[in-house]
This record gives sequence, structure tokens and C-alpha cells, in this order.
Amino acid sequence: MFSPEQIRKDFHILEEELAYLDNAATTQKPDNVINAIRHYYMKQNSNVHRSNYELAELATQAFESSRRTIANFIGSEPEELIFTRGTTESINLLAYSFFVGGLIEAGDKIAVTIAEHHSNFVPWQQLSKRFGTEMVYVDTDDEGRISLSEVKKALDKGVKLLAFTGMSNSLGVVMPYVEICHLAKERGVLTVLDGAQLVPHHKVNVKEVGCDFMAFSAHKMLGPMGIGALYGRRELLEKMVPFLYGGEMIDEVTLEDTTFNVLPYKFEAGTPNVAGTVGFGEAIRYLARLEWGKVQEHVKKLADVLIHELERIPYVEVYGPKDETQHSIVSFNIKGLHPHDVSQYLNSWKVAVRSGHHCAQPQLKRIGVPATCRASVYFYNTERDVERMLEAIKNITNEFPWVG
Ligand SMILES: Cc1ncc(COP(=O)(O)O)c(C=O)c1O
Repeated sequence: MFSPEQIRKDFHILEEELAYLDNAATTQKPDNVINAIRHYYMKQNSNVHRSNYELAELATQAFESSRRTIANFIGSEPEELIFTRGTTESINLLAYSFFVGGLIEAGDKIAVTIAEHHSNFVPWQQLSKRFGTEMVYVDTDDEGRISLSEVKKALDKGVKLLAFTGMSNSLGVVMPYVEICHLAKERGVLTVLDGAQLVPHHKVNVKEVGCDFMAFSAHKMLGPMGIGALYGRRELLEKMVPFLYGGEMIDEVTLEDTTFNVLPYKFEAGTPNVAGTVGFGEAIRYLARLEWGKVQEHVKKLADVLIHELERIPYVEVYGPKDETQHSIVSFNIKGLHPHDVSQYLNSWKVAVRSGHHCAQPQLKRIGVPATCRASVYFYNTERDVERMLEAIKNITNEFPWVG
């Protein structure tokens, strides 16, 4: 039985009287994740894949067991799952490796949507500035949705690669990512799926989705910061050059040349964040035990209540879609107030939301605002959290009488 009240008992930090509604920035961590990291440092800490004493074996087993758990969760082979520092590093790895390794060349067209987080926008834009690739932009509608016809229009310009988010972090739009990958595949276009917001909320099987690559971050799905992953189709990873050079990713080094290790180690230079991977694996084990249908229904319901109730307040403007394409993230502004003032005011009510451009300036520009407040819900949030935020917003005119 899915019960958010019961679930909250697994999250020490949620014992505080705080409506934590900034889950799109980072989620809280359950005790099993914190304990697993502690256990690793107390009982298993050693470098991995380097030594054959017992402690090193334990650390290596914990590291590789996490890889298998995470790979299994997204339907990939363990060799296709590379540990990185997170989504940002995963995408930078791709941009660098594609260009340096010749999979992308000057003159090639790269499409991105304007809904992207800067992490899936700037690396591709910089590639075009520095190395002469050409950017093709896929527009959204006024509410941040991407239509398949806009995608087709872009792909038919002879694009080599399409990088797009499965779920927008600024407006909470769930994109038609399966259909988009299908369209790209039909045209032989490589796909990079930004799963940073998607994977925490939707069960994504990369083989069924048909993407070539997918990047995601542990900290947005109960895991620790500083660790994430890049999934890549094996044939493509085999062809790619490493992003970082150094220990662990080599096979043999001579004065003349270096050969590289097999997958996934070819892309994992240096001592890895083993404790991070242990926490990541444990986070996935926690998520895998949940009833996902119920979790999604609960999150959707909370976000829908927020949208519906905010829309009834005359001095509130809510952005993004208000239908089934929206999930968990609610972006809004109070007319006449800067979003930073609103989030600071909400803080005085013990409500944590983010304000700003959410690292998605092209999207915000498209909807005509420089910044918003963003409330983002996860499965441990309750009606009480949502009600507290709504009560605060309804009382905002007491603090700022000119509003409304
Ligand atoms: C859609 C999206 N992509 C990429 C990122 C970057 O993730 P990270 O900072 O974990 O690398 C974020 C983080 O907010 C995001 O929401």
C-alpha cells in the first residue's frame, strides 16, 4: 500500500516542519541511502578494480552491484552504463567525444529544443561556436510543449543528432519522448535523451524508448550529489573516444601510444566516486520497491491541486500546460512581485520553492518571463505541504498589500 505518510518516516530530514517543494532541484535522501554510504565508509572503503585483498574486493563488488542495479532499472546492459558526476558531465562527455572522435564534424547539424536545461543546450551551442557545427532549434508552443511536427521539421533539415529533454525542468512538460526517438530513428538521427527530470518520475526502459544515449543524475532521484550516469548504445560507445584520460580507463600504455580499457571503464578515468555509486544503487533499490502507478498518480494529483488552486487566485499567473502533459512541476508568478521575493516570503511560511530562470533561459524567454517561482513535488510530499503553500499564497497580500 502506497502511503506518503508512511514513506516520510524513511526520510529523516522530512521530520522538520517544512514543506519541501524543490524536488526538481534535488530530492531528499532516505535513511537506507545515507546508511549505505556510511556502511561503505565504515566497512568497505578501498579503491576499486586495483587490488586483490578482501577489502578491495568488497568495494569493487559494491561498486559493480550498483552498476548492475541501475542498468537493470533502465533496461540497459551494465557495460552500457557509465558513471559520471551527473547529467551535465554526461552530456559534456558526449559533445566532446562526438567531436574529437569524428562522429560529429564541422558543418553537421545538431538539433536541440528550446525547452532544454542549459546543461543540454550550452555544450551543443559551444560546439557550434568553436568547431563549426550548426544549431537547429526545435520550438515549443506557448506552454512549453514540443509537437511532433516541429520535431519532424527540424529533423528534415538533415540533422545528425537530436538532443532533447524527456521532461522539462522549468514547466514540467512530459515530452513525447518515445515518438520523438522513433522519428529520429526513422531518419538515422542520433538521439541524446536528457533524463534528469524524466527518470525520477517515469519508468524509462532505454531499449523500449529507442534512444541512443540517456543522461541522468542520482541526486534528483533520492541518491547523493556528484554521481550520475550516461547510458549509451554499445555499438556507439565502442566507436567513441574517451572524454577523460588517466588511470582505470587504459589497457596498455607505452611510450608510443595507449590502448583503452573495455566498456564501461574506457569512459571512467581516475578513482571513481565509489560511495556515490553505492548511494545511487541504494536509491534505485528504494525506487524499484515503490508502486509506480500509485506514486505517479499521487504526484500528478498534488501538482494538479496546486495548478487548479493557484489559477483561482487572481494575482497568480501559472505557466505551462494544465493537462496530462504536465507532471510534478508548477511554475508561477505573483503579479507585481519578483519571484525571489515570493520564494523568500514562502520561506517564512516554511515552504521551500525555487525562484529564478531554472537554468532554462531560452524557454523562459519563449514564454515571455525572465524568472518564475517553481514548486516541484515528489512522492513523499503530502496534501499538507500543498495546502501550506496555497495558504501562504492566499495570505501574501498581508505582507505585500499592493498585490492583487
Ligand atoms: C532537465 C535537466 N537537465 C540537466 C540538469 C543538470 O543536472 P545536474 O546538475 O545534476 O548535472 C538538470 C538539473 O536541474 C535538469 O533539470
